Amino acid sequence: MPARQFFIGLMSGTSLDGVDAVLADFTEPRPALRAHAHHEFAPELRDELLRLNAPGDNELHRACVAAQHLARSFASIVEDLLLHAEVDAGNVRAIGVHGQTVRHRPDAGYTLQLNAPATLAELTGIDVVADLRSRDVAAGGQGAPLVPAFHAAVFESAHSRAIVNLGGIGNITCLPGGGAGTVIGFDCGPGNVLLDAWAMTHLGQPIDRDGRWAASGQVDERLLATLLDEPYLALPPPKSTGRDLFNLPWLQHRLDAVVAQARPIAPQDVQASLSRFTARIVGDAIALCCRDAADVIVCGGGAHNHTLMRMLSEECRGRPVRSSAELGIAPEHVEALAFAWLAHAHVMRLPGNLPSVTGARGSRILGALYPA
Ligand SMILES: Nc1ncnc2c1ncn2[C@@H]1O[C@H](COP(=O)(O)OP(=O)(O)OP(=O)(O)O)[C@@H](O)[C@H]1O
Ligand SMILES: [Mg+2]
Repeated sequence: MPARQFFIGLMSGTSLDGVDAVLADFTEPRPALRAHAHHEFAPELRDELLRLNAPGDNELHRACVAAQHLARSFASIVEDLLLHAEVDAGNVRAIGVHGQTVRHRPDAGYTLQLNAPATLAELTGIDVVADLRSRDVAAGGQGAPLVPAFHAAVFESAHSRAIVNLGGIGNITCLPGGGAGTVIGFDCGPGNVLLDAWAMTHLGQPIDRDGRWAASGQVDERLLATLLDEPYLALPPPKSTGRDLFNLPWLQHRLDAVVAQARPIAPQDVQASLSRFTARIVGDAIALCCRDAADVIVCGGGAHNHTLMRMLSEECRGRPVRSSAELGIAPEHVEALAFAWLAHAHVMRLPGNLPSVTGARGSRILGALYPA
């Protein structure tokens, strides 16, 4: 029997909900999931990471301290994974770790994921592959989204299909049928980031569980139109975005403008409008860039939001909209598995980016290795 090729993927995305981790076996061409875990961030760490998304006092020191906290939480989830799967650290080839994005400015030549990969290698005794976005940015790309190459590897089918990731930010991958043609992918705009922020403001809860609160509201068409007026949405791909643009002040500014001209909008109606907005921008992106898509596969935490999924089905105009679970990978595991896949690509010295997606000058091996 060939030696098992275990890799770990660690994803902590824009939603700041915590860390998703997977242990996968890459012995066969299609990776097989062996274990998964999710750890929520400690509230102090989450709050500090959120603050570090905006300029602030002494932020270099604070960022380095937060990165050390992150590395310890990454190490603890790795320990859980290995215990659960009964796999020794010595049998894992590498950990692919995304880190926590606090700035995404490819226009200024950088993207910054807080991370302490040296500490993670020290604590786990496993090779760590980190900083997976910078090389693509150095090659003139957006450094995002990186998951489309992985989507192409695991979700390709005989017909064209759209893969939609509803994380903090929503991104889409258009896969041509039978792998014949160019893969397109880009960040459509907000996924859950505004829904979460509004739920925190008005419910004091980090998420609108299952989209129940949104379901109790009515879409406000004026607010929806104002949200859809955002210039980012009309930019042609390649493009990527983050909390730098889509944040609570962005929403509040537009809400104030609408309310100043008419009557107040109930908070649950704002939540319904935000849900419709998220679904609409995905539907529009599919209509524009994935016209041939026969079906739509949804991954990321937003796949668990029933209101969002219902609205997305309505916006996809007859195309079946299905959770990635129906194709064998739970929605919350896809991104973490993608970072295990990127670590595997790094170790094999294979490119991890798709220039047709990120706009980079060419294919590049992504990431930096921190040996155990
Ligand atoms: N049961 C649920 N009901 C409603 N929303 C949910 C539910 N479960 C997860 N979510 C949403 O999914 C989010 C987390 O999704 P995910 O982990 O995919 O995003 P992420 O960490 O931002 O990743 P990325 O931005 O890299 O794709 C939560 O913040 C929440 O908004
Ligand atoms: Mg997450």
